Amino acid sequence: MKTEFSQNQAPLFEELLRCAQRPLAPFHTPGHKRGAGLEPEWFQSDIVAKIDLTEISAFDWWGALEKAQMLAANFFDADLSFFLTQGASQGIIGALTGIFAPGDKILVSRNCHLSVIKGITIAGLTPIFIETDYLPEWGIPGGLKKSALRAKIKEHPDYKGLLITNPTYQGIANRIRDYRELSADRILLVDEAHGGHLEWSGISGYNAYEGADLWIHGTHKMMGSFTQTGMLHVNTARIEPDQLQQGLDLITTTSPSYVLLASLDSNRRFLAEKGRRLFRERLPELMKVRSRIAACDGARILEGPLAEDRVIDPWKITLNFNLLGLTGYQAAHILETDFRIQPEYADLNQVTLLIGPWQDRADLEALYQAVTAISKRKQGKIAPINWMPPSIPAQVIPVRDGVFASKTWVSLEEAIGRVAANIIAPYPPGVPLLVPGELIGKDEVESIKQTILSGGIVRGLNSGHKIAVVKENR
Ligand SMILES: Cc1ncc(COP(=O)(O)O)c(C=O)c1O
Repeated sequence: MKTEFSQNQAPLFEELLRCAQRPLAPFHTPGHKRGAGLEPEWFQSDIVAKIDLTEISAFDWWGALEKAQMLAANFFDADLSFFLTQGASQGIIGALTGIFAPGDKILVSRNCHLSVIKGITIAGLTPIFIETDYLPEWGIPGGLKKSALRAKIKEHPDYKGLLITNPTYQGIANRIRDYRELSADRILLVDEAHGGHLEWSGISGYNAYEGADLWIHGTHKMMGSFTQTGMLHVNTARIEPDQLQQGLDLITTTSPSYVLLASLDSNRRFLAEKGRRLFRERLPELMKVRSRIAACDGARILEGPLAEDRVIDPWKITLNFNLLGLTGYQAAHILETDFRIQPEYADLNQVTLLIGPWQDRADLEALYQAVTAISKRKQGKIAPINWMPPSIPAQVIPVRDGVFASKTWVSLEEAIGRVAANIIAPYPPGVPLLVPGELIGKDEVESIKQTILSGGIVRGLNSGHKIAVVKENR
C-alpha cells in the first residue's frame, strides 16, 4: 500500500527558509555571500517572481540577451561569450561536444572536475590523462607540471586539444602563457570555474584570457552571480562558433531561466562598476587577516612561494590544523558548530574558506577569532596525512563504453580488479578518482574507504557504498 503523506508540507523550501534565518558567516559559494554582492534591484521583494518570464512577445528577449552577452565578452576580454544556466558544467560538456569529433584525443590534467568526464562521455572522446602535481603535506593539486605536459605531447603528437583546470579548487593558479606556448596550434581549453577575478587582485598573467582559446567561468563561485550560472568565453579562430553553439544546444534546456540569465547580466554590471574595484581596495585588509591567522600557533595557512611559479588566490584561505590533532573534517565541524562559520570545503588535511570582497568585515574578524580559539585548544598532534591520489589507473575500455556497459553493483572489496562503470569522485572538489573504463585497484579502494571513514562524501557510490562495475561475461 502506498504511504499517505500530508501534502501541506514543502520540506526543501521550508528548510531553505529556515536556513536563511540562521546566522552563519558565509565562507562558501555562491560568491555573492547571501546577497552582499548583489545589485539593489534584487531586493525588491517580488522581483524574482515578476521577472521569471519566458520568451514571450512582450519583450525583446533575443536582442537583450545578445547585447548582454556582448557586454560580458567585452568585460572578460573575449570575442564571444555565452551565458550558462546549468553551471560551468554546461559550458564544459557543451564545449567538448561542440568542438571535437568522436574519437578525438584530448590531453586532460587529471585534477579535472567530473563534468569533464561527462563531456568526454557524450562527445565520445579519447582522453589522455596527465598526472597532476600535488602539494606534499597538503595533498591538494597544484596544477599541471610543464614537464609532464611536454612528455605527453611527445607521446601523443596527434592530440587535438588540451584541457586544464586553472586555478585549482583551492585557488592555486598556474601561468596560462606557458601552456599556450607548449600546446602551440592546438585548442587550449581552461576550466576557470574558480577564477576570472585574479587580475583584479593584482595577480596578472594567470587568467585564462591570456592564452586560452576557450574558457569557462563558474560565475557563481567567486564572482557573485546566482548559483547555477556561468559563462563560456571564446577568443580564437580555432573554434567555429556555430559548432560550439550546436554542442551547447545539445545539452541545454529550451527554457533557460531568465532570472538566472538576468543575474549574469546584473553581476557583470556590478563587477564592472564596483565589484572589480573592491577586489583591489579590500586586498590589504584581507592580507592583514591572512598574516594574523598565519601567526596563530597550531594553524597552518596555505601560502606561497610555490613551485612552477604558481600563485595562490588570496580570496581562498586554506587552513590545516593537524598540529592540534584535527583533520580538516573535524576542524570544519568545529568552525560550524562552535563558531557559526560555514567553510566551503574540508578533507583529511584541511578546510578551505572562500571570501568575497563585499563580505562583511565582521566575518573576517570572526574567522580570525575562531582560528585563535581553536589554536588554544591543544588536543595533541597528528602527522600531516600525506594523502596523494593513487596514480592514474589503466584505461581498459573507452570511457563511453564503460558508462554504457551493462553493470552490476558490488562491494568495494569485490570491485578490486574490475572495470569502473561510473565516475567515482570525492565531493567536493569532484576530481575523479576513477573514470568509467578504468581498472579498479587496491589503492583506489583504500582511498575511497579512507575518505568515507573520515567523514567525506564520495560521489558515484550507491547508498550502501557499493560501486558500479562493468558486468563480465562469465
Ligand atoms: C573546477 C571546477 N570546474 C567545474 C565545476 C562545475 O561547476 P558547476 O557546479 O557550476 O557546474 C566545478 C564545481 O565545483 C569545479 O570545481
